[in-house]
Amino acid sequence: MKEIGKIWMNGKLVPFKDAKVHVLTHALHYSTSIFEGIRCYNTPNGSAIFRLPEHVDRFFKSAKLYSMKMQFSKKEISNAIIKTTKSSGLKECYIRPLAYYGYGMMGLTPTQNKVDVSIACWAWKMGESKAGKFSGAKCKVSSWIKIDSRSQPMQAKAAANYSNAALARIEALENGYDEAIMLNYSGKVVEGSAENIFIVKDNIIQTPPLSAGLLEGITRDSVIQIIEENGGFVIERDLERDDLYTADEIFMTGTAAEVKSVTQVDKVKIGNGKMGNITKALQKSFTNAVMGKDERFLPWLTFI
Ligand SMILES: Cc1ncc(COP(=O)(O)O)c(C=O)c1O
Repeated sequence: MKEIGKIWMNGKLVPFKDAKVHVLTHALHYSTSIFEGIRCYNTPNGSAIFRLPEHVDRFFKSAKLYSMKMQFSKKEISNAIIKTTKSSGLKECYIRPLAYYGYGMMGLTPTQNKVDVSIACWAWKMGESKAGKFSGAKCKVSSWIKIDSRSQPMQAKAAANYSNAALARIEALENGYDEAIMLNYSGKVVEGSAENIFIVKDNIIQTPPLSAGLLEGITRDSVIQIIEENGGFVIERDLERDDLYTADEIFMTGTAAEVKSVTQVDKVKIGNGKMGNITKALQKSFTNAVMGKDERFLPWLTFI
């Protein structure tokens, strides 16, 4: 981690190395935190944050699901994200807003503790998440089942959801794969460990519905809108593991991953084992959108 710029903590920008919390911070013990992952792109017209209002909305939705009393309004958080990004001096970066139950009472009940908020950013270049971007990712169907909303609110982007995802990621990497694909308790495909998933079969693009238990990805929504604006459509339906193996193309979407190709699932080659044409075309359209080169999607950019 390159320590560049400052980190916003409860309203103040502090030097990167001084952004510290107490070891008795509630969230460190009980995973009582929620967060966002946002990108700022270096477009030909200057740095722009991608879909900032949607990320801030999801941040507040996540907080609500954990009964967090935010000390800041959406406007204040949006302004703080812009301020932190600008102060970093980075032209393109990843931005991480975090809200967590802080230091105070120790014990399971979090709600008596103050909700602290921080915003950090770090360098991240377009196309930096390697596997799948230029070649194709090899994915393993995880033996860890995706937890679901019978246990905790899965529409929250909450730290508590990510131990399950991290175990799946570790298992995939330890077995020589690049990424995990998670199934739910009914055996239906949900998503990657930190990306949504799409398949293409006979030129029909399909993706699991929210009811499968996935995070409502902002990149997922962007890609669906791009496809629809270009005259196509996406079918949302439950996907079986078989649908993965027999797909012509598979791609994943996420803020970090952008649009990444999957060319192998378990030991099965997908399509001809190379990045598919629809995936390639979507990567291009998505890049054009985030770089401000497609006028139809300019409202998605907040120039800073
Ligand atoms: C579990 C999970 N699913 C999907 C996504 C993709 O969401 P987004 O496109 O909003 O980054 C992410 C990343 O945030 C994630 O962590």
